[in-house]
Amino acid sequence: MKSIVIQRPNTLVIEDRPLPTPAAGEVSVKVKLAGICGSDSHIYRGHNPFAKYPRVIGHEFFGVIDAVGDGVDTARLGQRVSVDPVISCGHCYQCSVGKPNVCASLVVLGVHRDGGFSEYAAVPAKNAKVIPDAISDKHAVMIEPFTIAANVTGHVSPTEQDVALIYGAGPMGLVTVQALKGVYKVKQVIVVDRIDERLAMAQRSGADWVINNGNQSLPALLEEKGIKPTLIVDAACHPSILQEAITLASPGARIVLMGFSSEPSQIVQQGITGKELSIFSSRLNANKFPVVIDWLTKGLIDPDKLITHAFEYQHVKDAIELFEKDQRQCCKVLLTF
Ligand code: NAI
Ligand code: MN
Ligand code: ZN
Repeated sequence: MKSIVIQRPNTLVIEDRPLPTPAAGEVSVKVKLAGICGSDSHIYRGHNPFAKYPRVIGHEFFGVIDAVGDGVDTARLGQRVSVDPVISCGHCYQCSVGKPNVCASLVVLGVHRDGGFSEYAAVPAKNAKVIPDAISDKHAVMIEPFTIAANVTGHVSPTEQDVALIYGAGPMGLVTVQALKGVYKVKQVIVVDRIDERLAMAQRSGADWVINNGNQSLPALLEEKGIKPTLIVDAACHPSILQEAITLASPGARIVLMGFSSEPSQIVQQGITGKELSIFSSRLNANKFPVVIDWLTKGLIDPDKLITHAFEYQHVKDAIELFEKDQRQCCKVLLTF
């Protein structure tokens, strides 16, 4: 089989590898579609602190089960599945409180262990989530990015009364916008970014008001309209954003951070405690595949609005380069196998 391997930073090779044999409790998935994410590019370029090389990248993938290991029901052969990339131990403190996404022995497919940019991938059977017939292949491959939004919104229980402010109209900002509008029916969702084309995508995903803060002052615009957001999600992830969010937030508001910056954020405690703000962080997803499958079944979100390109896997280098260079036109880029 062919696998897309990052042999070392900046060296991507399509290798011939033996077919994987699923271990006990695992299945082999014949991959049909995979999605390119920022973290794939970061591993390719050597900017992911968790990655070990060589590595088959890819943590967003969909396919069909074509072999099962010991202890797995053969009835699973032929099932259409999307793979949850989060592998957890099930018994550490984090797992016991519903946070397998930060498990003590966390393994993320495509990061710590070979992932889905491959013709076949062996994965734990319980991570291969069955996709109902009514959900198309293209929607199924988009489940993982939407689980990030399910995790973010799961922390804060949005309501129709919320006034939400989303920093960043990249893939992560857009899945969050779709969840807030489509699932939670939030009255007002404001999106801020520096790229007009991305803000236009945010509008297509349901944003009520978009602001380019490259050429306008977000604080001044919100103040002029007397708007104090009650829910703020940082999907742009610059360390300076937290303090701005604290300043702009309504008393009682919730702020969710998604970033992994190692640079310090300078913040003033008075701004947090004085308004009794709640600050959450969100990493990957904690068992959110069933949640997003339900959203798709009910038609509450539309992944098609985020898919801008598809390439055959042989052209993966072109696909990643386009994804990296063209933030104006690119959102989700798919690979077909
Ligand atoms: P992206 O880079 O495609 O999008 C980020 C967007 O933020 C860009 O459109 C950029 O123009 C905008 N931006 C940057 N600085 C800004 C500022 N000061 N104000 C307004 N907009 C600004 O990235 P993507 O894929 O959407 O991911 C967003 C972030 O989320 C990344 O930092 C990534 O590392 C993080 N992430 C976190 C995850 C988690 O589970 N916590 C999962 C996936 C991504
Ligand atoms: Mn992803
Ligand atoms: Zn655990």
